[in-house]
Amino acid sequence: MKIIAVIGTRPNMMKLAPVLAAAKPYPELSFLVVHTGQHYDHRMSDVFLEDLELPPPDVFLEIGSGSHATQTARIMTALETVMLEEQPDMVLVFGDVNSTLAATLVAAKLCLPVAHVESGMRSFDRSMPEEINRIVTDHLSQLLFATSGVAVQNLIKEGIPRDRIHLVGDVMVDSLLTCLPRALDRPGYLDRFGLAPGGYGLVTVHRVDNVDIPGHLDEIVRLLAAVSRALPLVLPLHPRTAKRLEEFGLRGRFREVPSIHIIDPVGYLDMLKLMKESRLVLTDSGGLQIETSVLDIPCLTLRNTTERPETLSLGTNRLLHRNLETALKAVDQVLNGGWPAVKPVTLWDGKAAERIINVLLAL
Ligand code: UD1
Repeated sequence: MKIIAVIGTRPNMMKLAPVLAAAKPYPELSFLVVHTGQHYDHRMSDVFLEDLELPPPDVFLEIGSGSHATQTARIMTALETVMLEEQPDMVLVFGDVNSTLAATLVAAKLCLPVAHVESGMRSFDRSMPEEINRIVTDHLSQLLFATSGVAVQNLIKEGIPRDRIHLVGDVMVDSLLTCLPRALDRPGYLDRFGLAPGGYGLVTVHRVDNVDIPGHLDEIVRLLAAVSRALPLVLPLHPRTAKRLEEFGLRGRFREVPSIHIIDPVGYLDMLKLMKESRLVLTDSGGLQIETSVLDIPCLTLRNTTERPETLSLGTNRLLHRNLETALKAVDQVLNGGWPAVKPVTLWDGKAAERIINVLLAL
């Protein structure tokens, strides 16, 4: 079976790596990896390939940035040529980014079966570009690899036939469990700022709703400044956020707050180490909500919805949107005890990719 696996962004690579590793013993599954180039900076792309020990992609499309329509259309045009030339038996897509949507649309129009890894997640907020990508991708896929029981239920409620859905767990957890020992061996960033393990909060923020609207980004900056009075913060800055801070004249505000340490985007291993050694994480990322839950690090999510509600019922994650008061209360609770300890989750066993490969082999 010839499979085209399409990746485009940082989180896609964490999802591809365990699938390729689990497929290694089976020569009957041959993969052609296409990187759309949605993420293209060395620190947004190459570092992840290196950290995950992934070979260079077989095809690199160099699409780059643009509006949603421009980026999606460019990826579609380029991918159509690749798919027509390669005539795969299946197209494998990951997560919920524009590259996922573009690949799915092209494959569906060429009548090629699509398999979706990380299927069924829903935030029920269609103002998020990722939610649109999730819904369209799931409805055009023949094989849906769901991460959790909630994800399976979401798909069934939307009328997707049960026999297309396979509950396999979360491949991001596979990557985390594989890479954590190597991550912890890294020198890390803390000495540079005079910080100790457990003595700082890790922050990531890049969602359109938080960073593309001046008033919202201003609220985020205020919130971080207030939290940093209780706990120093380390903030690896996503290029989208860096750009917006400059554009809205907000970058200078961080200079007045010495306990927020801004660094360039970090690779996967450095991120895992920063996360594991943090006291808490403030984030609007999806993946970090799961990763912190596995690592038992309190996660304060800078959103008002999540497509990963399991983390809320586990108690490891709390949605605070951009509410300053709620944030300060939650930080106080973490620092002064009272944050619930994580309960183990059955499917977070590092074997999600193995289950995916078993389904593909059974075809
Ligand atoms: C994308 C995904 C988001 C995911 C995130 C992970 C979509 C709709 N969004 O968001 O779901 O959580 O990736 O990081 O697909 N840029 C660079 N260098 C790069 C890549 C981007 O400078 O290598 C800058 C550009 O200014 C670009 C902006 O970041 O315009 C946004 O990049 P884009 O890929 O459109 O979306 P992300 O915000 O990264």
